[in-house]
Amino acid sequence: MPETLFSLAEQIRRCTACPLWKQRTLAVPGEGPKNAKLLFIGEAPGVEEDRQGLPFVGRSGKFLTEMLNQIGIDRKTVFITGSVKCHPPKNRVPKTKELAMCKELWLDKQVSLLKPKLIVLLGSVAIQSSLGEKKDLANVHGLVVEKEGLHYFLTYHPSAAMRFPAVRKLMEDDFKKLKRVLN
Ligand code: URA
Repeated sequence: MPETLFSLAEQIRRCTACPLWKQRTLAVPGEGPKNAKLLFIGEAPGVEEDRQGLPFVGRSGKFLTEMLNQIGIDRKTVFITGSVKCHPPKNRVPKTKELAMCKELWLDKQVSLLKPKLIVLLGSVAIQSSLGEKKDLANVHGLVVEKEGLHYFLTYHPSAAMRFPAVRKLMEDDFKKLKRVLN
C-alpha cells in the first residue's frame, strides 16, 4: 500500500521510537488538506494539543490562527504540524536526538507527500530541526531559505510573539512579508 498522509498519521499515533511516547496522552501528527501549498512547522505539542491530539489548539494556536487571518489565510487551507509529534514532559524543549528521529521517521515523509510550495518554520527549534543548524532568529527572521529543493520561510514561534510585544511586531511584519512572498 502506498503511504499517504492519512496512513502516516495512523503510524505516528502508535509511534514508540523515542522516549517521548511514554508520557504522551495523544500523539499529534498534524492536520490540514493534502493539497495544502503551505506547511507550518512548530516545536512540539503543548498540554492542550496532547489532550486533543491536534496541533496548535491551545493559546498559541489561537494566536497563530489570528496571525493567519490578518494576512487573509484561512487556517483550514494550510497544513500544520510540529517538529516532534509528542508532548515533551513539563513542556521541555525536544532533545536533538528526538528532533532528528521524529524528522527522519515522520516529518520528512510528510513533506515528501505534501510537496508544499513553502514551509514556514515557527521558531528556533523548527529551524534547528528542518535546516539542521541553530540560527539566531534576530538575524534570519523573515528570510526565505532554500535547502535541498525545499523553500523555507523563517519566523518566530507564536508563543514568543505572545509573550514579547517587540517579537509580536516582528512576527506580524514577517507575516506581511510572507503574504508578499506567496503572491
Ligand atoms: N506549540 C507548538 O509548537 N506546537 C503546537 O502544536 C502547540 C504549541
